Amino acid sequence: MSQPNIFQPESLHAKEQLLACRVGELVANDFRSAHLFSQHGIDFCCGGGISLARAIQRFDADETALLEDLMALDSQGDKQPGLDQLPLPDLLNYIEATHHTFVRDKAPLLVEYSQKMVRAHGEKHAEIKPLAGWIRALVEDLMPHLMKEEQILFPAILGLHNQVEMQNCFGHIGNPINAMLHEHDDALQIFEKIRELTNDFQPPAHACTTWRVCYASLAEFEADLKQHIYLENNILFPKALALTA
Ligand SMILES: [Fe+2]
Ligand SMILES: [Fe+2]
Repeated sequence: MSQPNIFQPESLHAKEQLLACRVGELVANDFRSAHLFSQHGIDFCCGGGISLARAIQRFDADETALLEDLMALDSQGDKQPGLDQLPLPDLLNYIEATHHTFVRDKAPLLVEYSQKMVRAHGEKHAEIKPLAGWIRALVEDLMPHLMKEEQILFPAILGLHNQVEMQNCFGHIGNPINAMLHEHDDALQIFEKIRELTNDFQPPAHACTTWRVCYASLAEFEADLKQHIYLENNILFPKALALTA
């Protein structure tokens, strides 16, 4: 299938429409766009509420290249259904089956790679030991976070959805939601440190294979974590809070 040419007159309207959309809407409508925003340096977690035009300015992204990539997505098919349209029980299952499984699969590998790097290069390269420390801190924060969501918050949300009276120790659902929002911020702040230490996941020219795999895995992990957090902060939690309104 031929790619749309955004400079053709018939595509100008689509281009303007895209620029006027909020970044968060674009991500919720098609999660493949989340990877594109990450690649183009646009933070769709914190910048989700602004229009694409403003986000391009704020994050100094290449408008032409980003619009071409976004419009090419439309022509590729296999679009994920809008996750904001999923019924709550399906959304909870989706988050656990995709993002929680991803964290549990990949986090131990990040620790393993970084420890290997400490042993091989930690003495000569000052950034490696703190990097391994931040990766360990991230994993130690995320594992109990997943447990709290799966064992406390998600069952409580499901109970609200099913209108079942549940005994809980946390009072209003807004309390555990606020706790999870803080933990999401903490995880994103750790990734800021990791980005600084890894030069935005760019390995140096002399890096060995483990080093390269570690940085590529970190980039992949960050992209998935941002989708995961976006989905919880902007779709799941507001839906849960609306049930108590
Ligand atoms: Fe989660
Ligand atoms: Fe979470």
